[in-house]
Amino acid sequence: MDQENELTIRASFIKLIQGDITTQEVDAIVNAANGSLMGGGGVDGAIHKAGGPAILEDCKALVEMQGPISAGMAVITSAGNLPARHVIHAVGPIWMGGTLGEAEMLRLTYEESLKLAVENELSSIAFPSISTGAYRYPVEKAAPVALETVAEFLKEQKKGIKISFVLFNEETYNAYQAALNKIKASILPKKKHS
Ligand code: APR
Repeated sequence: MDQENELTIRASFIKLIQGDITTQEVDAIVNAANGSLMGGGGVDGAIHKAGGPAILEDCKALVEMQGPISAGMAVITSAGNLPARHVIHAVGPIWMGGTLGEAEMLRLTYEESLKLAVENELSSIAFPSISTGAYRYPVEKAAPVALETVAEFLKEQKKGIKISFVLFNEETYNAYQAALNKIKASILPKKKHS
């Protein structure tokens, strides 16, 4: 039986953690980056600060090769001094009121990050709550999109992947816990009426 903050899907699982993503010992942590890949505030700033200059050097080399990236895209670099092995830099949508395809773009951002992880044979990935800080996506709307997208992806994977959502504050954690509870309720076997 899963703990309240966990959901098992085939050989994989999703776990919610309240904490700092830069301390996670996983194959990759995901950065909520911007398209320039040149760093910023929030989780992006924390990752570059803790990881040191090697991450920015990799980002610069990528931008030189392929130019800046757009919302919905993800790229992978080394992780410098971080305990994680890699950083997946993903660019979420900026919230513009919800009618400009933000949900679809957020879904794509998680999918592209997961595809990149599988392509690189990574099996433990930590996500922050992409777009819900500086990009102003309301967390109670972003949390179900994030969790449903990851759950759908894991349903298709034979090999187990450990996904953690590392949520920086209580408000964000609670929004993700509420969304996880709803997903769990929707997949419980329906009780038969006698
Ligand atoms: N660990 C985990 N989560 C964190 C951390 C951390 N160390 N620091 C901040 N967060 C959380 C925020 O509290 C928020 O819930 O990450 C979530 C995403 O917020 P932002 O980092 O602001 O990311 P986003 O909304 O996607 O905006 C991206 O911010 O700094 C810039 O370069 C970045 O321009 C880009 C934009």
